[in-house]
Amino acid sequence: PYPLYEELRKTPVLHEEGGPYVISSYWDIKNLLHDPRISSDAANLAAAGDDELSEPEQTGLPPSFIRLDPPEHDRLRRIANSSFGPPHRPTRIDSMRGELGQIVTGLIDGFGDTRQIDLVDQFAYPFPVTVICRLLGVPREDEPRFRAWVDPIVAGLDPDTRTGADSVFKQTAQDARMQLGMYLAGLVEERTKEPREDMLSDLVTSHGPDGAMTTMEVLATSVLLLIAGHETTVNLITNGMLTLLRHPEYLHRLREDPGLSVRIVEELLRYEPPVQLVPQRTCIADITVRGVTIPKGSRIWLVLAAGNRDPERFEDPDRFDPDRGDIQHLGLGSGIHSCFGAPLARLEAQIALSELARRLDNPRLVEDPPPYRQNAVLRGPRHLNIAFDGLH
Ligand code: HEM
Repeated sequence: PYPLYEELRKTPVLHEEGGPYVISSYWDIKNLLHDPRISSDAANLAAAGDDELSEPEQTGLPPSFIRLDPPEHDRLRRIANSSFGPPHRPTRIDSMRGELGQIVTGLIDGFGDTRQIDLVDQFAYPFPVTVICRLLGVPREDEPRFRAWVDPIVAGLDPDTRTGADSVFKQTAQDARMQLGMYLAGLVEERTKEPREDMLSDLVTSHGPDGAMTTMEVLATSVLLLIAGHETTVNLITNGMLTLLRHPEYLHRLREDPGLSVRIVEELLRYEPPVQLVPQRTCIADITVRGVTIPKGSRIWLVLAAGNRDPERFEDPDRFDPDRGDIQHLGLGSGIHSCFGAPLARLEAQIALSELARRLDNPRLVEDPPPYRQNAVLRGPRHLNIAFDGLH
């Protein structure tokens, strides 16, 4: 159970002087995510006095579509989407299924003869960044360099490492961001001259009604995919394994039937969502929620994880039950900003969890609960030590 969220739901619109309006009931969150009076624009957020949240994105790049409202948001998302999942041929994501399986197999084989692993460091962390490299079209030989830049950038977004006197760390993240930006700019230039079968090439050569993206827009979009698709996926896999080890009947069933991973991942996105809270919204008109007027210009926090445990929406919400009939969770958001990477995120987690269930012989948690990252937005263990008797 999440006692804090239960407490929050008792005051559906919670507000303290100077703070955001905190919304934690399922239907209110859902409605607001679809309400055009609620803006995601970075400039509106800064005007509402929230610089902290936009800080990690001070990259010198234009805002990416997660921080834009229509019509700019829709144009950029449509171009990106035409490369991710064009209607007239199998989607890029479907065609990556085999490759994802190979990456997972390689990582599990890499556990070698050890009988204990940290799932975060040895599996969940390296997996999504390798996937994004393949998606964008980063050449294999550059992957280690690419990963070396991404690690400090992602860690730099983590309040654990970002706060305090850790300015050396900030500097490293800043350097890495510059180098990654320069590297990607070079790659974009190559793909513009000589397109290949990869997402970067598609973004710069798109011929749809929206045309192509500019180099700067491609860079902003690539960084967005990296940041939005990294730690979220790490946490989905780690929260997933933790939950399965606490509910071993599902681990056993998954081992027998990998197809069950589809329902397991959906229920995980409800029960232990990696993104707990969407804090980067402001309202651009007065709006009334349950009789409370939220004035224009206010910041709004939408607590997805509290909505996912709302008893008005889900029966027995604190029970992990992949067999439940209806799992319309908020874990991937909703409305125009709902997760762009959803098909990829789902597939990555389905393959990762079913392979871990199949290959690890008698897996056990070494420490329960594991240590968590200090982060109100992204929930997930910092380490997840698992002991097992060998590999199948
Ligand atoms: C948006 C969750 C994986 C790319 C979102 C949002 C959520 C979310 C809740 C909505 C944010 C908002 O309303 O402001 C997750 C979770 C993931 C995941 C839980 C993994 C388990 C990914 C992956 C990618 C990705 C793998 C890319 C490859 C994006 C992008 C957006 C987004 C680009 C912005 C969409 C827009 O503004 O139109 N994600 N995500 N995500 N996600 Fe994901």
